[in-house]
Amino acid sequence: MTNEKLFLQTLKGIKTDRVPFWFMRQAGRYLPEYMALRKQAGSFLDLCYNPDFATEVTLQPLRRFNMDAAILFSDILVIPHALGQDLAFKVGEGPILTPVNNLEKLNALSMEKLHENLSPVYQTISNLSQKLPKHVTLIGFAGAPWTVATYMVNGKGSKDQAETRLMAYQDRETFQKLINLLVQATSEYLIAQVNHGVEVLQIFDSWSGTLPADEFIKWCVEPTKQIVENIRAVHPDVPIIGFPKGAGAKIKNFVEKTKVTAVSIDTSTSTSWVRDVVQPLCPVQGNLDPLLLVSGGVPLEKAVYHILDHLKAGPHIFNLGHGIIPQTPPENVKMVSDILLNYRR
Ligand code: CP3
Repeated sequence: MTNEKLFLQTLKGIKTDRVPFWFMRQAGRYLPEYMALRKQAGSFLDLCYNPDFATEVTLQPLRRFNMDAAILFSDILVIPHALGQDLAFKVGEGPILTPVNNLEKLNALSMEKLHENLSPVYQTISNLSQKLPKHVTLIGFAGAPWTVATYMVNGKGSKDQAETRLMAYQDRETFQKLINLLVQATSEYLIAQVNHGVEVLQIFDSWSGTLPADEFIKWCVEPTKQIVENIRAVHPDVPIIGFPKGAGAKIKNFVEKTKVTAVSIDTSTSTSWVRDVVQPLCPVQGNLDPLLLVSGGVPLEKAVYHILDHLKAGPHIFNLGHGIIPQTPPENVKMVSDILLNYRR
């Protein structure tokens, strides 16, 4: 018998009786209590940089659904912001940044105030490690360099990341410099998160799926591998979950090369392939379609059991294949949570 949290046991490769779970973007616009607090805070960024509000928003979904993990409430774009790039979130538009797409603009960014600018995030983590229920694990996170770079270069979200993929071909040296800066900033940021009380880290590479195979190695695998090495040099035991979204069959190589502790699986990947190819390598997390959580009913229930049954032979953390979307009825999240709390394998 062990008192270790279920989530941490699973990340050590132990096949637990009950499957631990959390949901990407579990705090957010589908919850009325989130909307109320965001209104009070002003903007989304004001919410991220106010430790009391960010702490409260992190805790909100746990009160309703009793997940095994809480994810720090923040955003992947606080890193470019802390390096000195302008950032605003416009309602209905998503993030808007002043593009960093040449050497001159890149040279204007600086590591100097990184930790000072991110100190409200560190304060949120300290608050959370005091306030979280004992059985709940605190997850910290950052965006992977490639995904963060796609917003930095283009100045906003994009369908296929064409501007950034083009810059990587046309001005390879400058782009490599940008990625190197992000590797350094992200490593330091994640190490500081652990210093302040985070127990697990997740690295989101939401746009790795648009990279051709060789570019995937260069801009997704290599930088992630370096970040994992940098973190482990300081915190050898902290579990790190990689999320190379859209990577498909490249997941296997990603896990082997980066040496992440576990991997998060998106909806495009079949659970039988994951069971046969990925689960023997490391614990897996995923991969319910967030749209099923919107539509609900019997198809939702069936999909949840399908994932649980396919992945029951090895370590598995139940999650979505991508974040919860704003139209999600909270009662559907409750239904899935109740299934997961009662399921034994
Ligand atoms: O509950 C949680 O998961 C914790 C918080 C979290 C947020 N963003 C809060 C957020 C996390 C882990 C992220 C990660 C993030 N942010 C990613 C990687 C994961 C993914 O979804 O692919 C990316 C690409 C971003 C960048 C980002 N942030 C975009 C493109 C947007 C606009 C799209 C949108 O959903 O509005 C955001 C805003 C954002 N980040 C919101 C939240 C709750 C919505 C802001 C609001 O209107 O309240």
